[in-house]
Amino acid sequence: MDAISVIRSKRDRAALTDEQIDWVIDAYTRGEVADYQMAALNMAILLNGMDRREIARWTAAMIASGERMDFSSLSRPTADKHSTGGVGDKITLPLAPLVAACGAAVPQLSGRGLGHTGGTLDKLESIPGWRALLSNEEMLSVLDGTGAVICAAGDGLAPADKKLYALRDVTGTVEAIPLIASSIMSKKIAEGTGSLVLDVKVGSGAFMKTLDDARELASTMVGLGTDHGVKTVALLTDMSTPLGLTAGNALEVRESVEVLAGGGPADVVELTLALAREMLDAAGLKDADPAKALADGSAMDVWRRMITAQGGDPDAVLPVAREQHVVVAPASGTLTRLDAYDIGIAAWRLGAGRARKEDPVQAGAGVELHAKPGDTVVAGQPLLTLHTDTPERFGYALEATEGSFDIAPAGTSFTASPVVLG
Ligand code: URA
Repeated sequence: MDAISVIRSKRDRAALTDEQIDWVIDAYTRGEVADYQMAALNMAILLNGMDRREIARWTAAMIASGERMDFSSLSRPTADKHSTGGVGDKITLPLAPLVAACGAAVPQLSGRGLGHTGGTLDKLESIPGWRALLSNEEMLSVLDGTGAVICAAGDGLAPADKKLYALRDVTGTVEAIPLIASSIMSKKIAEGTGSLVLDVKVGSGAFMKTLDDARELASTMVGLGTDHGVKTVALLTDMSTPLGLTAGNALEVRESVEVLAGGGPADVVELTLALAREMLDAAGLKDADPAKALADGSAMDVWRRMITAQGGDPDAVLPVAREQHVVVAPASGTLTRLDAYDIGIAAWRLGAGRARKEDPVQAGAGVELHAKPGDTVVAGQPLLTLHTDTPERFGYALEATEGSFDIAPAGTSFTASPVVLG
């Protein structure tokens, strides 16, 4: 077997055989297939697709590339959620401690920023001292002790995905249903959770731009999870506008802590509670009351213990970017559109994301929103604040925000999209 023949098969629209898939994933993991060859194969998959058998085999090969975890020693049922990625999607931060406060064990293996979307680990690393890299023993001990852990998948878990994820981020090959479904589900199945709730994002800031594509991604992932014995459900949720009022690492941590303190933007609270209910239901904890756990401070207690257990200081002052630039509303009226993709690109260009896989991210960089679709705005009021340590990036980020919003004359009838679409 050789990489060129596998690339040619997919380039010429053939279905890959089980043997080709097993070989190419194994050889890429071992370094025998080069990054540039895998990048070419990913692009052929993005352009020509894969059928369900190929996706199932690709996922199984990624699981088999590493070890599988086992949470059977825990006394609580395990519940996990995974988002397909969005802008301002900080939901994991309040959600994991909230669901743990309601009685489940939440092993949340998370990723870094991908394309214009933020990454949970990049966000949490803005908390001084916090460590994303834990050994399997440390992970189990934090999970057992606090009920929740958010960390990087260990080197041994689906190592094929680790390499592929970083490669896809910098080769324009993220937005492919087979690659997204296998990437997410290989990690979740190898992780060994008993139940999984998928938050499949739809809209300009999501990898899936249409409801039809999002439904296909959701049903592909639910099928993969179910076939491997994981109780898997999916929600389709809006990503046409950023979630909450921030997109950027430390900015989003601050907003998540507000939610845990009983405040925070309404859409973030609504989605956190909707996903918490699904997770508790899937874990068999139907009687738990996540709204109460948010209001009475028990979710915040778990957050503080979880951050501390991973070396972080929950009381530390979060980093703030050195420079700010305010974009004002050019007219008065109703804000009818604030585009998630444009804001995600702006945050990324300001330094919240990375252009090459080895790049560092800026903890303080990002975009703060001062209004959401449906709000009334007045000409000259701040609409966005851009944050960065490197002000030479403002011009490039402003190009992204230029067409990112629409303001209609006051009185125009307008209904904002619901947070949960189905
Ligand atoms: N999240 C993942 O883990 N993988 C993807 O491909 C996209 C989002």
